[in-house]
Amino acid sequence: MQTDSSFTFVLFGGTGDLSMRKILPALFEAHRAGGMLADSGKIVAVARHVGDRGEYLEWVNGHVKPHVSKNGVDESAWASFLERIEFVKLDLGNPEDFVLLRDAVQALPGIRVFYLATGPSLFVPICRALASVGLNENARIVLEKPLGYDLKSSNAINDAVGEIFAEEQIYRIDHYLGKEPVQNLLALRFGNALFEPLWRREWVESIQITIAEELGVEARGDFYDNTGALRDMVQNHLLQLLSIVAMEPPHSMDSDSVRDEKLRVLRALKPIDPLDIGKVAVRGQYHSGVIRGTSVPAYATEPGVKQNSTTETFVALKVEIENWRWAGVPFFLRTGKRLADRVAEIVVNFRAVPHSALGASALRAGANRLVIRLQPNETIRLYCLAKQPGEGMNLASVHLDLAFDQFFREGQMEAYQRLLLDVINGRLALFVRRDEQEAAWKWVEPILNEWKASNRPPKPYAAGTWGPAAASAMLAQHGTCWLEEEN
Ligand code: BG6
Repeated sequence: MQTDSSFTFVLFGGTGDLSMRKILPALFEAHRAGGMLADSGKIVAVARHVGDRGEYLEWVNGHVKPHVSKNGVDESAWASFLERIEFVKLDLGNPEDFVLLRDAVQALPGIRVFYLATGPSLFVPICRALASVGLNENARIVLEKPLGYDLKSSNAINDAVGEIFAEEQIYRIDHYLGKEPVQNLLALRFGNALFEPLWRREWVESIQITIAEELGVEARGDFYDNTGALRDMVQNHLLQLLSIVAMEPPHSMDSDSVRDEKLRVLRALKPIDPLDIGKVAVRGQYHSGVIRGTSVPAYATEPGVKQNSTTETFVALKVEIENWRWAGVPFFLRTGKRLADRVAEIVVNFRAVPHSALGASALRAGANRLVIRLQPNETIRLYCLAKQPGEGMNLASVHLDLAFDQFFREGQMEAYQRLLLDVINGRLALFVRRDEQEAAWKWVEPILNEWKASNRPPKPYAAGTWGPAAASAMLAQHGTCWLEEEN
């Protein structure tokens, strides 16, 4: 991924958690790899509580360095990375500071990227202030999630930002789209003739998409308590994964071809009837429990979380897509905090053979299945049946594996690194277009509304388990179970 595009990357929220853990480490990795960032490219960090560049670099040394390169930092690369960094002290409430920012940026070469690693309430004021000094022209703006709280608030942000930046200038980040295995899903589906003919209702019985986390809400209790798992994970990451799994083959990989196809899926999601919510949606909240031998507290006692909070930390859904390819195929989506394992995977369960000449063991579960593991240990695993050695015809489930780190030993890239390079190089395919975001909000909103209106508390589950029993019962109604329940 060579580039000769020079750039000025302006980072609002320069001392925030995201800058510290993700954005600056990703830029460093791109720098260290060599050839990915133009030599003349600059990073302009913007923050309010830091005096000057020297102080900012001290902060970067103290806070960002521990998050880069797990295998130790290449000191000379680190030193040359710091040379890329400029600093502007900026108070949002002070218009004069934006004049200083403009002067600093105008002195630098290349395309301009403004990355808003700030809370969403600052998106519109920052965009307006940038426009007031003409910095919106020919620039790219990157917006972090959450973009709004519901359809109305997300539209309000999109309308206001849209008055200042054209849609082609706006990069809405969903970091799941930057994950290597998600890219690989596109390669698997559209680079091979093998799977595509089977990738439809005639051959697929059900699909599961899980994003399970062991972590709790960490230091984000306050934010999370006002958000919940449906807004934090389903509206964006899970529906984006679903749209990639289910989309029609795009005409090309250009940004609008891919996004048009994803949008068609989002618009084809079967609306959830409020009367059916109990059958197709499960919400849970973790209580205290044990994860890998360590006791962890209940969600309701986490710092920043309201006492008696009814915010969900777990969601499981049965989703249907109303089109010819997928009519009648259930997609089971699930995400939660403090679950038994950290795993993100897509499970495609193909139908059993229509008639078994090989006896009942050919109808057993655990075969005819493709599992795409996004994290950890990225793998694609195809389960089939094979004859057990020896006498008779006894079949056993076996698997063909592609473990990415063994096959491709080098070149793996973190999601943020890929996405930041895409912004710098003007590639929009892996960013969420406004209409996709709206379609996703339109679909999740009735669930949010119903949960709020019903006032029923989420179902409890012990930390370190796979969530409330109701999530398993939902699949049992369809004669299936979550993947880990089979083992
Ligand atoms: C973020 C959510 O978007 O994704 C977090 O806000 C969540 O709550 C995180 O922990 C999960 O991302 P990953 O890449 O660690 O699976």
